[in-house]
Amino acid sequence: MHVTAIVLAAGEGTRMKSNHAKVSHRILDKPMINWVVDAALQAGCDRVVTVVGSHADEVRELLGGLENVECVEQTERLGTGHAVKVALDAAGIAEGPVVVLNGDLPLIQPDTIRMFAETVARGEYAAAVLTMTPPNPFGYGRIELDETGAVTRIIEQKDCTPEQAATLLECNAGCYAFDGAALVAHIGELSTGNAQGEYYLTDMLEILRNAGSAVTYFHCNDFREGLGVNSRVQLAELTGIARDRINARHMTEGVTMIDPSSTWIGPDVKIGRDTVILPSVMLMGSTVIGEECTVGPNTRLTDTCVGICSVIDETVAIEAQIDDYVNCGPRAYLRPGAHLCDHSKAGTHVEIKKSTIGRGSKVPHLSYIGDTQMGEGVNIGAGSITCNYDGVNKHGTVIGDRTFIGSDTMMVAPVHIGSDVVVGASSCITKDVPDGALALERSHQTNIEGYTARKNAQNAKE
Ligand code: UD1
Ligand code: CA
Repeated sequence: MHVTAIVLAAGEGTRMKSNHAKVSHRILDKPMINWVVDAALQAGCDRVVTVVGSHADEVRELLGGLENVECVEQTERLGTGHAVKVALDAAGIAEGPVVVLNGDLPLIQPDTIRMFAETVARGEYAAAVLTMTPPNPFGYGRIELDETGAVTRIIEQKDCTPEQAATLLECNAGCYAFDGAALVAHIGELSTGNAQGEYYLTDMLEILRNAGSAVTYFHCNDFREGLGVNSRVQLAELTGIARDRINARHMTEGVTMIDPSSTWIGPDVKIGRDTVILPSVMLMGSTVIGEECTVGPNTRLTDTCVGICSVIDETVAIEAQIDDYVNCGPRAYLRPGAHLCDHSKAGTHVEIKKSTIGRGSKVPHLSYIGDTQMGEGVNIGAGSITCNYDGVNKHGTVIGDRTFIGSDTMMVAPVHIGSDVVVGASSCITKDVPDGALALERSHQTNIEGYTARKNAQNAKE
């Protein structure tokens, strides 16, 4: 079965009051349009044609590089029916099942899309629409049924009489399947004789029914799947629904969450079983966490990989790699390219960027480590930092195995510190240190004996 999906994403999204495309607004850090397009791809659609218009470049960029996804431009916003016509013409769609999805329908499930496409592919219906009964139906198109319970037409909220608005509670979710040939044959019959003066896609049901084709609706038992986003309030509502759905999935698969209501996990994140998520955690992007880890509280991991049995407390990590049995935080900041190898530690108020912390090495307190290759079993004393930036360029630091860096050491890059080295506390290391050496760079200490007593005696006299 070859299924084409058309995703409508050209609208202005006026009700968002935004300088950006509506469909670019994020739900759990993933733009709405990507939720919809991914659902279509996961449902098995071979071709996803996205209609862009308002902020077209922004939307194109969000879909750039996705296989089987193409964009067509609707230069004038003449309505959802017009948008579909533009897609059919520009993409040369002539037949086969065509699924149409509103771009602001982020929680639609792949299974639903597949079921829709299959019904039409079997030839049972020329058109089907997904419906729901949300607690607040305001703003949705309403399904009108005849006395046999068959769909006669969809009436937009703005075209409803007060009585229709109050009694027709079955709402159009904005997910449709059409027989492509029937759609192409009849889409030219849409007209703009309605409250908004637009070509409504929703009118296709009535048009196809009048042409003698079978049209139907499928009621979605969970109305939340069919909610659309027209405003920031709805964006927040759907974000909460997505969070609950994702958290429930992880808990079902063996992840413990102490406080699911403060746990925000992106749709593509993976977590191994027996990992415990403590309160106030955000796991975003392509983050992957292995089994038996403890994450949180107050932790945000973005595009970060974590192995097994690691403890990550009050940490922010972006594009970092944390291997097995690592100890991180509280209050660690791991920036892109930070790699903590097995059994290593990044402790309190520690920032690490583009650096490897070798197996069993420890950076326990108040350090900045940047552009550094660190061997195994190294200990970095409190307050030590790599001075990797000279104001113009970044330079690298190399630290060998089992080296001990005393507290408050400045390692001025580029510098190479060998293996089995000891660096005395408070040294400013500007020259390479050979293997096995003690490096000391500090002025000699002077003790002036009896100082305090003499000073007190003098103060007493004055
Ligand atoms: C639409 C439906 C309504 C349904 C609701 C579900 C129509 C006429 N109405 O209303 O029955 O209950 O969705 O959420 O279809 N778009 C374009 N080009 C255009 C106009 C819109 O691409 O010229 C896109 C928008 O970007 C959006 C989608 O189509 O992603 C739906 O448009 P929107 O204005 O949000 O329609 P609703 O008023 O929500
Ligand atoms: Ca909408």
